[in-house]
Amino acid sequence: MDMSRQRKRTAADFVFKEELGHGSYSTVYKAVDKRDPKRVYAIKVCSKAHIIKERKVKYVTIEKNTMNLLAQGNHPGIVKLYYTFHDADNLYFALDFASGGELLALLHRYGRFNDALCRHFTAQLVDTLEYIHSRGVIHRDLKPENVLLDRDGRLMITDFGAAATTDKTDNPIDDDFTPASSFVGTAEYVSPELLLHNRCTPSSDIWALGCMIYQFTVGSPPFRGENELKTFAKIVELDYTWNPSRYDMDKSNTSINPMIVDTVRRILVTDDATRITLAQLKLLPWFQDLDWKDKGKIWQGVFT
Ligand code: ADE
Repeated sequence: MDMSRQRKRTAADFVFKEELGHGSYSTVYKAVDKRDPKRVYAIKVCSKAHIIKERKVKYVTIEKNTMNLLAQGNHPGIVKLYYTFHDADNLYFALDFASGGELLALLHRYGRFNDALCRHFTAQLVDTLEYIHSRGVIHRDLKPENVLLDRDGRLMITDFGAAATTDKTDNPIDDDFTPASSFVGTAEYVSPELLLHNRCTPSSDIWALGCMIYQFTVGSPPFRGENELKTFAKIVELDYTWNPSRYDMDKSNTSINPMIVDTVRRILVTDDATRITLAQLKLLPWFQDLDWKDKGKIWQGVFT
């Protein structure tokens, strides 16, 4: 038996390289396994003192439990959690290293995605969301910053610190979760049901997906005000438009594929009970010539 896989890992097992990013209570570093330098990880380091002071213990626990649960299915669209360990000062999460960086950075580099790329990423997101929801998990903070890319341009969803479970009776992730516990998402992608009824369902992730599809096509999200309150007002009023901004001098982008407009229109429905489901989404004309069972095709890289 390979004992290196058995013993609990420690920070000393890795050579820490450059910082990859940081959140409100954590910093992510690139790290190499000393025993096997071919193995590269992204290690998320969370300061214990900071987590306790900022009252984030619950979110870190949710993140660990959710990622452990989702890692079981070996789905290509999930950033995998390999090891967790801690020392006196920090908690460590050894994750898949996504060498392609954030999807948001790619979008900013391209300005907007063309029809084929937009559809390709949307298909990967739909396939991954189906998997996440099938495990009873709601991500609750989907946005292009939380979608990373591997070296081939396949996307991987990360940051499950805001996740919740759909199963209230048997809740392995968060025993005392109540929807009232707080607003944890990001203003631009938050669903009307959370704002209006303090309710979050799997459909709330689909809402965020709709915002992302719009953003892939246009370059910026559909609902964006000068501040969070104004953004929230736009969301509950469904105040978005496909008209190019009068500041947008690029007249080449005035024609958007009507099938994308139709797809987004069916997702950005205020009432989550009538909003389109993932199963219905897959049948829309935009995906007509896409075989959802052909996982190899859906998970084809874009850089290779
Ligand atoms: N930044 C945050 N998490 C990351 C990861 N898993 N891989 C690469 N960069 C990241």
